[in-house]
Amino acid sequence: MVFIVFEGIDGSGKTTQVKLLEKYLVSKNKSVLLTVEPQKKPIGNLIKNLVRFNDTPKEAIALLFAADRVDHVKNTLIPNLDEYDFILCDRYYYSSYIYQSLQGCEEKWIEEINKYMIEPDLIILIDVDADDFLKRRGENKVIFENMEFQKKAKEKYLEFAKTTKKVVVIDGSRSVDEVYNNIMGVVNEKFNF
Ligand code: ADP
Ligand code: TYD
Repeated sequence: MVFIVFEGIDGSGKTTQVKLLEKYLVSKNKSVLLTVEPQKKPIGNLIKNLVRFNDTPKEAIALLFAADRVDHVKNTLIPNLDEYDFILCDRYYYSSYIYQSLQGCEEKWIEEINKYMIEPDLIILIDVDADDFLKRRGENKVIFENMEFQKKAKEKYLEFAKTTKKVVVIDGSRSVDEVYNNIMGVVNEKFNF
């Protein structure tokens, strides 16, 4: 099994690309499990409501993302490790590391509350400018969706990318097809098929 995580700022194209990669892998007769964080389950739904308002303490938000992730890991990822050729995940622990630390939570503590996560094989970081985010999404759907925050998130993602060979940075400012071809090439090369 190969476990691939998609990361990037809001509106960077993760959902679009993860679905295209799923389709491609299925066309190659691979079995694929596609998952997303926050999950479409009670804790994830609670998070989606809370991040529309500003008054939930950042620590509570971080704990809820971590709780949703424990459920994701224990109830979905671990039971399916031997069931699929590929598991693709739209956001994962790295979103907490970037977003919750930018909100002011301590990095060590974020790591601690997420210690049950399992490591992916590859992290595809779709890099776009915050201007692209604004064009694609518009501001203020959730508390993180403002230009200043997204600019900082982009920079922090790129800093993080320098710290591990697991990350491949993809230029997401190109057309959907160009980004897709780039990702497909990376996956083919890394996993030899
Ligand atoms: P994310 O999951 O990272 O938030 P989405 O895949 O939902 O991003 O894309 C956000 C919006 O931008 C959608 O309306 C999508 O159709 C559009 N979009 C995605 N990729 C591109 C691209 N390469 N160029 C222009 N628009 C894009
Ligand atoms: P979502 O609508 O799924 O955003 P997107 O389509 O851009 O992925 O909302 C998730 C929001 O929550 C998004 O702004 C990123 C943020 N987030 C965190 O702050 N921490 C996390 O651990 C995760 C998984 C997401």
